[in-house]
Amino acid sequence: MPKHPESSTEPRFSRLTALLADWRPLWYPAPFQYRRPPWGDVGSELTECLLGLDDAQVDRLQADPWQDSPLRDWLPVGELAELVRLAPLAAAEVRLPPAWGEHVGGRKWQQIEAFARHLHVAPRDSLLDWCAGKGHLARALARCHAAEVSALEWQQPLCEEGRRLAAAQQAPVHLHRQDVMTAEAERHFSARTHVVALHACGDLHLRLLELALAAQSAVTLAPCCYHRTHEETYRPVSRRGRALACVHSLRLARDDLALAVQETVTAPRGVRQRRERANAWRLGFDELQRELRGEDSYLPVPSLAYGRLPERFEGFCRWAARRKGMELPSSLDLTPFERVGWQRLAEVKRLELVRHLFRRPLEMWLALDRVSLLEEAGYRVELGAFCAATLTPRNLLIRARRA
Ligand SMILES: C[S@@+](CC[C@H](N)C(=O)[O-])C[C@H]1O[C@@H](n2cnc3c(N)ncnc32)[C@H](O)[C@@H]1O
Repeated sequence: MPKHPESSTEPRFSRLTALLADWRPLWYPAPFQYRRPPWGDVGSELTECLLGLDDAQVDRLQADPWQDSPLRDWLPVGELAELVRLAPLAAAEVRLPPAWGEHVGGRKWQQIEAFARHLHVAPRDSLLDWCAGKGHLARALARCHAAEVSALEWQQPLCEEGRRLAAAQQAPVHLHRQDVMTAEAERHFSARTHVVALHACGDLHLRLLELALAAQSAVTLAPCCYHRTHEETYRPVSRRGRALACVHSLRLARDDLALAVQETVTAPRGVRQRRERANAWRLGFDELQRELRGEDSYLPVPSLAYGRLPERFEGFCRWAARRKGMELPSSLDLTPFERVGWQRLAEVKRLELVRHLFRRPLEMWLALDRVSLLEEAGYRVELGAFCAATLTPRNLLIRARRA
Protein backbone atom coordinates (compact mmCIF):
# COMPACT_ATOMS: atom_id res chain seq x y z
CA MET A 1 0.00 0.00 0.00
CA PRO A 2 1.46 3.43 -0.84
CA LYS A 3 2.65 5.51 2.07
CA HIS A 4 1.62 9.13 2.27
CA PRO A 5 4.45 11.48 1.41
CA GLU A 6 4.82 14.44 3.74
CA SER A 7 3.37 16.81 1.17
CA SER A 8 -0.01 15.11 1.35
CA THR A 9 -1.20 16.77 4.56
CA GLU A 10 -4.11 18.40 2.78
CA PRO A 11 -5.83 15.37 1.14
CA ARG A 12 -5.20 13.22 4.19
CA PHE A 13 -6.55 15.87 6.56
CA SER A 14 -9.56 16.42 4.37
CA ARG A 15 -10.42 12.74 3.96
CA LEU A 16 -9.96 12.04 7.67
CA THR A 17 -12.31 14.89 8.50
CA ALA A 18 -14.98 13.45 6.19
CA LEU A 19 -14.65 9.93 7.58
CA LEU A 20 -14.63 11.04 11.23
CA ALA A 21 -17.71 13.17 10.61
CA ASP A 22 -19.61 10.53 8.61
CA TRP A 23 -18.96 7.74 11.08
CA ARG A 24 -19.32 9.76 14.27
CA PRO A 25 -22.67 8.14 15.18
CA LEU A 26 -20.84 4.82 15.41
CA TRP A 27 -17.60 5.80 17.12
CA TYR A 28 -18.88 8.54 19.44
CA PRO A 29 -21.09 6.59 21.90
CA ALA A 30 -19.16 4.59 24.49
CA PRO A 31 -20.70 1.07 24.65
CA PHE A 32 -19.77 1.00 28.34
CA GLN A 33 -22.64 3.33 29.08
CA TYR A 34 -25.33 1.34 27.27
CA ARG A 35 -27.07 -1.93 27.97
CA ARG A 36 -27.72 -2.45 24.29
CA PRO A 37 -25.49 -1.55 21.33
CA PRO A 38 -25.55 2.24 21.24
CA TRP A 39 -26.08 2.56 17.52
CA GLY A 40 -29.53 0.89 17.49
CA ASP A 41 -30.78 -1.01 14.45
CA VAL A 42 -28.46 0.78 12.03
CA GLY A 43 -25.67 -1.66 12.69
CA SER A 44 -27.50 -4.85 13.59
CA GLU A 45 -25.43 -7.05 11.25
CA LEU A 46 -22.26 -5.36 12.46
CA THR A 47 -23.34 -5.97 16.07
CA GLU A 48 -23.98 -9.62 15.31
CA CYS A 49 -20.54 -9.97 13.77
CA LEU A 50 -18.86 -8.28 16.74
CA LEU A 51 -20.68 -10.31 19.37
CA GLY A 52 -19.75 -13.49 17.52
CA LEU A 53 -15.99 -12.86 17.81
CA ASP A 54 -14.05 -15.19 20.08
CA ASP A 55 -11.57 -13.91 22.70
CA ALA A 56 -8.53 -14.54 20.52
CA GLN A 57 -10.03 -12.47 17.69
CA VAL A 58 -10.86 -9.66 20.11
CA ASP A 59 -7.29 -9.63 21.43
CA ARG A 60 -5.88 -9.66 17.92
CA LEU A 61 -8.09 -6.78 16.75
CA GLN A 62 -7.33 -4.77 19.86
CA ALA A 63 -3.63 -5.13 19.14
CA ASP A 64 -3.99 -4.45 15.41
CA PRO A 65 -7.35 -3.13 14.26
CA TRP A 66 -6.29 -2.97 10.60
CA GLN A 67 -5.17 -6.48 9.74
CA ASP A 68 -7.79 -8.96 8.42
CA SER A 69 -10.60 -7.18 10.17
CA PRO A 70 -14.05 -8.73 9.77
CA LEU A 71 -15.42 -5.19 10.27
CA ARG A 72 -14.30 -4.19 6.78
CA ASP A 73 -17.67 -5.39 5.41
CA TRP A 74 -19.32 -2.48 7.23
CA LEU A 75 -16.64 0.07 7.97
CA PRO A 76 -13.93 1.79 5.87
CA VAL A 77 -11.15 -0.21 7.52
CA GLY A 78 -8.78 -0.23 4.53
CA GLU A 79 -9.03 3.50 3.90
CA LEU A 80 -8.55 4.37 7.57
CA ALA A 81 -5.52 2.07 7.71
CA GLU A 82 -3.99 3.90 4.79
CA LEU A 83 -4.77 7.32 6.20
CA VAL A 84 -2.95 6.60 9.46
CA ARG A 85 0.10 5.12 7.78
CA LEU A 86 3.17 7.36 7.93
CA ALA A 87 6.44 7.33 6.07
CA PRO A 88 9.36 6.79 8.49
CA LEU A 89 11.05 9.92 9.79
CA ALA A 90 14.75 10.23 9.11
CA ALA A 91 16.66 9.40 12.28
CA ALA A 92 20.27 9.52 13.42
CA GLU A 93 22.22 6.57 14.83
CA VAL A 94 22.17 7.78 18.41
CA ARG A 95 22.88 5.31 21.23
CA LEU A 96 22.85 6.80 24.67
CA PRO A 97 25.02 5.07 27.28
CA PRO A 98 22.67 3.09 29.57
CA ALA A 99 24.35 4.68 32.62
CA TRP A 100 22.84 8.03 31.60
CA GLY A 101 19.40 6.50 32.12
CA GLU A 102 19.89 5.92 35.86
CA HIS A 103 16.86 7.22 37.80
CA VAL A 104 14.67 6.94 34.69
CA GLY A 105 12.15 4.12 34.19
CA GLY A 106 13.15 1.61 31.49
CA ARG A 107 10.32 2.45 29.12
CA LYS A 108 10.71 6.20 29.60
CA TRP A 109 14.43 5.91 28.91
CA GLN A 110 13.78 4.05 25.65
CA GLN A 111 11.32 6.79 24.65
CA ILE A 112 13.95 9.42 25.41
CA GLU A 113 16.49 7.54 23.33
CA ALA A 114 14.04 7.26 20.41
CA PHE A 115 13.20 10.96 20.75
CA ALA A 116 16.91 11.87 20.72
CA ARG A 117 17.43 9.83 17.53
CA HIS A 118 14.72 11.84 15.79
CA LEU A 119 15.77 15.27 16.99
CA HIS A 120 17.57 17.32 14.35
CA VAL A 121 19.66 19.91 16.13
CA ALA A 122 21.02 22.74 13.95
CA PRO A 123 24.40 24.31 14.92
CA ARG A 124 22.92 27.49 16.40
CA ASP A 125 19.95 25.85 18.13
CA SER A 126 19.40 26.58 21.77
CA LEU A 127 17.42 23.67 23.25
CA LEU A 128 14.48 24.22 25.58
CA ASP A 129 12.71 21.26 27.24
CA TRP A 130 9.04 22.10 27.76
CA CYS A 131 7.26 20.81 30.91
CA ALA A 132 10.35 18.85 31.73
CA GLY A 133 9.46 17.04 34.94
CA LYS A 134 12.82 16.10 36.49
CA GLY A 135 14.53 17.02 33.23
CA HIS A 136 15.35 13.47 32.12
CA LEU A 137 15.07 14.40 28.44
CA ALA A 138 16.94 17.67 28.97
CA ARG A 139 19.84 15.85 30.68
CA ALA A 140 20.08 13.24 27.95
CA LEU A 141 20.10 15.91 25.23
CA ALA A 142 22.61 18.11 27.06
CA ARG A 143 25.03 15.22 27.32
CA CYS A 144 24.34 13.86 23.85
CA HIS A 145 24.92 17.22 22.13
CA ALA A 146 27.45 18.55 24.65
CA ALA A 147 25.31 21.68 24.80
CA GLU A 148 23.48 23.72 27.40
CA VAL A 149 19.79 22.92 27.67
CA SER A 150 17.14 24.98 29.44
CA ALA A 151 14.13 23.25 30.90
CA LEU A 152 10.81 24.54 32.24
CA GLU A 153 8.79 22.88 34.97
CA TRP A 154 6.37 24.37 37.45
CA GLN A 155 6.66 21.91 40.35
CA GLN A 156 9.34 22.99 42.78
CA PRO A 157 10.20 19.44 44.05
CA LEU A 158 10.68 18.23 40.47
CA CYS A 159 12.89 21.21 39.69
CA GLU A 160 15.00 20.56 42.78
CA GLU A 161 15.38 16.88 42.04
CA GLY A 162 16.13 17.69 38.38
CA ARG A 163 18.86 20.14 39.39
CA ARG A 164 20.35 17.59 41.76
CA LEU A 165 20.44 14.90 39.04
CA ALA A 166 21.92 17.33 36.50
CA ALA A 167 24.66 18.35 38.94
CA ALA A 168 25.44 14.71 39.81
CA GLN A 169 25.79 13.85 36.13
CA GLN A 170 27.52 17.12 35.26
CA ALA A 171 24.92 17.78 32.62
CA PRO A 172 24.63 21.48 31.67
CA VAL A 173 20.89 21.75 32.31
CA HIS A 174 19.21 24.91 33.63
CA LEU A 175 15.92 23.97 35.19
CA HIS A 176 13.67 26.99 35.60
CA ARG A 177 10.65 26.87 37.80
CA GLN A 178 8.07 28.30 35.45
CA ASP A 179 4.34 28.06 34.91
CA VAL A 180 4.33 27.86 31.12
CA MET A 181 0.78 29.19 30.87
CA THR A 182 1.76 32.61 32.23
CA ALA A 183 2.89 35.57 30.12
CA GLU A 184 6.35 35.28 31.67
CA ALA A 185 7.04 32.01 29.81
CA GLU A 186 7.51 34.05 26.64
CA ARG A 187 10.96 35.20 27.74
CA HIS A 188 12.42 31.73 27.16
CA PHE A 189 11.80 31.90 23.40
CA SER A 190 13.76 33.42 20.54
CA ALA A 191 14.35 32.58 16.87
CA ARG A 192 17.31 30.44 18.01
CA THR A 193 15.23 28.41 20.42
CA HIS A 194 14.49 24.83 19.53
CA VAL A 195 11.73 23.78 21.87
CA VAL A 196 11.36 20.06 22.53
CA ALA A 197 8.53 18.32 24.35
CA LEU A 198 8.03 14.68 25.11
CA HIS A 199 4.43 13.98 25.99
CA ALA A 200 3.19 17.47 26.61
CA CYS A 201 -0.56 17.44 27.30
CA GLY A 202 -3.30 19.39 25.49
CA ASP A 203 -3.21 23.02 26.54
CA LEU A 204 0.47 22.77 27.47
CA HIS A 205 1.56 21.85 23.96
CA LEU A 206 -0.85 24.35 22.40
CA ARG A 207 0.83 27.03 24.51
CA LEU A 208 4.20 25.75 23.30
CA LEU A 209 3.06 26.16 19.69
CA GLU A 210 1.70 29.63 20.37
CA LEU A 211 4.97 30.87 21.85
CA ALA A 212 7.18 29.06 19.33
CA LEU A 213 5.24 30.54 16.41
CA ALA A 214 5.42 34.04 17.87
CA ALA A 215 9.23 33.75 18.23
CA GLN A 216 9.70 31.62 15.08
CA SER A 217 11.44 28.93 17.13
CA ALA A 218 12.03 25.41 15.87
CA VAL A 219 9.78 22.71 17.35
CA THR A 220 10.10 18.97 18.03
CA LEU A 221 6.98 17.84 19.77
CA ALA A 222 5.45 14.51 20.79
CA PRO A 223 1.94 15.58 21.79
CA CYS A 224 -0.36 13.68 24.12
CA CYS A 225 -3.59 13.94 26.16
CA TYR A 226 -5.40 16.25 23.75
CA HIS A 227 -8.42 16.22 26.09
CA ARG A 228 -6.50 18.00 28.86
CA THR A 229 -7.85 21.34 27.81
CA HIS A 230 -10.09 23.97 29.35
CA GLU A 231 -12.24 24.10 26.19
CA GLU A 232 -15.32 21.88 26.34
CA THR A 233 -15.65 21.82 22.58
CA TYR A 234 -12.55 21.48 20.47
CA ARG A 235 -11.67 24.51 18.35
CA PRO A 236 -9.28 23.52 15.56
CA VAL A 237 -6.08 25.51 15.84
CA SER A 238 -5.39 25.77 12.11
CA ARG A 239 -7.37 27.68 9.47
CA ARG A 240 -7.52 24.49 7.41
CA GLY A 241 -8.82 22.51 10.38
CA ARG A 242 -11.52 25.09 11.09
CA ALA A 243 -12.63 25.15 7.45
CA LEU A 244 -12.72 21.35 7.14
CA ALA A 245 -14.57 20.90 10.43
CA CYS A 246 -17.10 23.47 9.29
CA VAL A 247 -17.64 21.95 5.80
CA HIS A 248 -18.05 18.44 7.21
CA SER A 249 -19.86 19.51 10.39
CA LEU A 250 -17.29 17.74 12.55
CA ARG A 251 -17.81 18.78 16.16
CA LEU A 252 -15.54 17.26 18.79
CA ALA A 253 -16.29 17.45 22.50
CA ARG A 254 -13.60 17.08 25.15
CA ASP A 255 -14.69 13.46 25.78
CA ASP A 256 -14.16 12.68 22.09
CA LEU A 257 -10.57 13.86 22.38
CA ALA A 258 -9.99 11.41 25.22
CA LEU A 259 -10.78 8.60 22.78
CA ALA A 260 -7.65 9.52 20.82
CA VAL A 261 -5.43 8.47 23.72
CA GLN A 262 -7.31 5.50 25.15
CA GLU A 263 -4.91 2.78 24.15
CA THR A 264 -3.42 0.59 26.83
CA VAL A 265 -1.41 -1.91 24.82
CA THR A 266 1.69 -1.05 26.79
CA ALA A 267 0.17 -1.72 30.23
CA PRO A 268 1.65 -4.79 31.95
CA ARG A 269 -0.53 -7.90 32.13
CA GLY A 270 -1.26 -7.56 35.86
CA VAL A 271 -2.41 -3.96 35.40
CA ARG A 272 -4.67 -4.95 32.50
CA GLN A 273 -6.22 -7.77 34.58
CA ARG A 274 -6.96 -5.42 37.46
CA ARG A 275 -8.45 -2.91 35.05
CA GLU A 276 -10.67 -5.63 33.58
CA ARG A 277 -11.95 -6.57 37.00
CA ALA A 278 -12.62 -2.93 37.84
CA ASN A 279 -14.54 -2.53 34.58
CA ALA A 280 -16.60 -5.69 35.11
CA TRP A 281 -17.49 -4.47 38.61
CA ARG A 282 -18.42 -1.04 37.30
CA LEU A 283 -20.74 -2.69 34.80
CA GLY A 284 -22.15 -4.92 37.53
CA PHE A 285 -22.77 -1.86 39.69
CA ASP A 286 -24.37 -0.17 36.68
CA GLU A 287 -26.95 -2.99 36.51
CA LEU A 288 -27.53 -2.69 40.22
CA GLN A 289 -27.97 1.09 40.30
CA ARG A 290 -30.42 0.97 37.37
CA GLU A 291 -32.53 -1.52 39.28
CA LEU A 292 -32.36 0.29 42.62
CA ARG A 293 -33.09 3.69 41.13
CA GLY A 294 -35.76 2.30 38.79
CA GLU A 295 -34.13 4.32 36.05
CA ASP A 296 -32.56 2.74 32.99
CA SER A 297 -29.71 5.21 32.56
CA TYR A 298 -25.96 5.23 33.13
CA LEU A 299 -24.61 6.85 36.26
CA PRO A 300 -20.93 7.79 36.11
CA VAL A 301 -18.91 6.58 39.10
CA PRO A 302 -15.61 8.35 39.84
CA SER A 303 -12.44 6.46 39.09
CA LEU A 304 -10.41 4.87 41.85
CA ALA A 305 -6.72 5.54 42.31
CA TYR A 306 -4.47 2.63 41.35
CA GLY A 307 -4.43 -0.04 44.06
CA ARG A 308 -7.56 1.30 45.81
CA LEU A 309 -10.02 -1.18 44.29
CA PRO A 310 -11.76 -3.06 47.15
CA GLU A 311 -11.04 -6.79 47.48
CA ARG A 312 -14.58 -7.90 46.68
CA PHE A 313 -17.45 -6.86 44.44
CA GLU A 314 -19.63 -6.10 47.46
CA GLY A 315 -17.06 -3.70 48.83
CA PHE A 316 -16.89 -1.98 45.47
CA CYS A 317 -20.69 -1.63 45.28
CA ARG A 318 -20.87 -0.18 48.78
CA TRP A 319 -18.12 2.31 47.95
CA ALA A 320 -19.76 3.30 44.64
CA ALA A 321 -23.21 3.59 46.24
CA ARG A 322 -21.83 5.88 48.95
CA ARG A 323 -20.20 8.07 46.29
CA LYS A 324 -23.55 8.40 44.53
CA GLY A 325 -25.49 9.00 47.75
CA MET A 326 -27.42 5.71 47.47
CA GLU A 327 -28.49 3.25 50.18
CA LEU A 328 -27.72 -0.43 49.55
CA PRO A 329 -30.06 -2.87 51.33
CA SER A 330 -27.92 -4.91 53.74
CA SER A 331 -29.37 -8.29 52.69
CA LEU A 332 -28.97 -7.92 48.96
CA ASP A 333 -27.50 -10.86 46.99
CA LEU A 334 -25.00 -9.24 44.66
CA THR A 335 -23.80 -12.40 42.89
CA PRO A 336 -26.13 -12.04 39.85
CA PHE A 337 -25.04 -8.44 39.34
CA GLU A 338 -21.38 -9.41 39.36
CA ARG A 339 -22.10 -12.15 36.81
CA VAL A 340 -23.94 -9.73 34.53
CA GLY A 341 -21.05 -7.28 34.91
CA TRP A 342 -18.61 -9.82 33.47
CA GLN A 343 -21.06 -10.69 30.66
CA ARG A 344 -21.46 -7.05 29.79
CA LEU A 345 -17.71 -6.56 29.85
CA ALA A 346 -17.31 -9.30 27.23
CA GLU A 347 -19.88 -7.52 25.03
CA VAL A 348 -18.42 -4.07 25.61
CA LYS A 349 -14.96 -5.26 24.58
CA ARG A 350 -16.41 -6.48 21.30
CA LEU A 351 -18.53 -3.40 20.60
CA GLU A 352 -15.58 -1.16 21.53
CA LEU A 353 -13.69 -2.51 18.52
CA VAL A 354 -15.62 -0.01 16.43
CA ARG A 355 -14.31 2.94 18.44
CA HIS A 356 -10.91 1.33 18.43
CA LEU A 357 -10.79 1.68 14.65
CA PHE A 358 -11.26 5.43 14.90
CA ARG A 359 -8.76 6.12 17.71
CA ARG A 360 -5.63 6.50 15.65
CA PRO A 361 -7.47 8.38 12.85
CA LEU A 362 -8.71 10.85 15.46
CA GLU A 363 -5.24 11.24 16.94
CA MET A 364 -3.85 11.71 13.45
CA TRP A 365 -6.50 14.33 12.72
CA LEU A 366 -5.54 16.30 15.84
CA ALA A 367 -1.85 16.04 14.94
CA LEU A 368 -2.59 17.23 11.39
CA ASP A 369 -4.39 20.24 12.83
CA ARG A 370 -1.16 21.15 14.64
CA VAL A 371 0.90 20.42 11.53
CA SER A 372 -1.37 22.69 9.49
CA LEU A 373 -1.07 25.49 12.03
CA LEU A 374 2.71 25.37 11.65
CA GLU A 375 2.55 25.13 7.86
CA GLU A 376 0.24 28.12 7.70
CA ALA A 377 2.86 30.08 9.66
CA GLY A 378 5.52 29.26 7.07
CA TYR A 379 7.14 26.26 8.76
CA ARG A 380 8.49 23.19 7.01
CA VAL A 381 6.87 20.36 8.94
CA GLU A 382 7.30 16.61 9.18
CA LEU A 383 4.98 14.23 10.95
CA GLY A 384 5.95 10.65 11.76
CA ALA A 385 6.28 8.05 14.47
CA PHE A 386 9.40 8.30 16.65
CA CYS A 387 9.09 4.82 18.19
CA ALA A 388 7.04 1.64 17.99
CA ALA A 389 3.51 1.86 19.41
CA THR A 390 4.41 -0.91 21.84
CA LEU A 391 6.88 1.44 23.52
CA THR A 392 4.26 4.18 23.77
CA PRO A 393 1.04 4.49 21.77
CA ARG A 394 1.61 8.27 21.84
CA ASN A 395 4.40 7.95 19.33
CA LEU A 396 3.60 10.76 16.89
CA LEU A 397 6.30 13.36 16.44
CA ILE A 398 6.00 16.78 14.84
CA ARG A 399 9.26 18.29 13.59
CA ALA A 400 9.02 21.85 12.39
CA ARG A 401 11.38 24.64 11.46
CA ARG A 402 10.82 27.97 9.75
CA ALA A 403 11.37 27.50 6.04
C1 LIG B 1 3.29 14.33 31.32
S1 LIG B 1 4.54 15.10 32.27
C2 LIG B 1 5.86 15.08 31.10
C3 LIG B 1 7.18 15.18 31.74
C4 LIG B 1 8.35 14.93 30.80
N1 LIG B 1 8.29 15.74 29.62
C5 LIG B 1 8.44 13.47 30.47
O1 LIG B 1 8.17 13.07 29.35
O2 LIG B 1 8.78 12.71 31.37
C6 LIG B 1 4.01 16.76 32.29
C7 LIG B 1 4.86 17.69 33.14
O3 LIG B 1 4.35 19.01 32.94
C8 LIG B 1 4.38 19.70 34.16
N2 LIG B 1 3.41 20.81 34.08
C9 LIG B 1 2.07 20.72 34.10
N3 LIG B 1 1.53 21.94 33.98
C10 LIG B 1 2.56 22.82 33.89
C11 LIG B 1 2.62 24.24 33.75
N4 LIG B 1 1.52 24.99 33.70
N5 LIG B 1 3.84 24.80 33.67
C12 LIG B 1 4.96 24.05 33.73
N6 LIG B 1 4.95 22.71 33.85
C13 LIG B 1 3.76 22.11 33.93
C14 LIG B 1 4.02 18.64 35.19
O4 LIG B 1 4.41 19.03 36.48
C15 LIG B 1 4.77 17.43 34.64
O5 LIG B 1 6.06 17.36 35.17
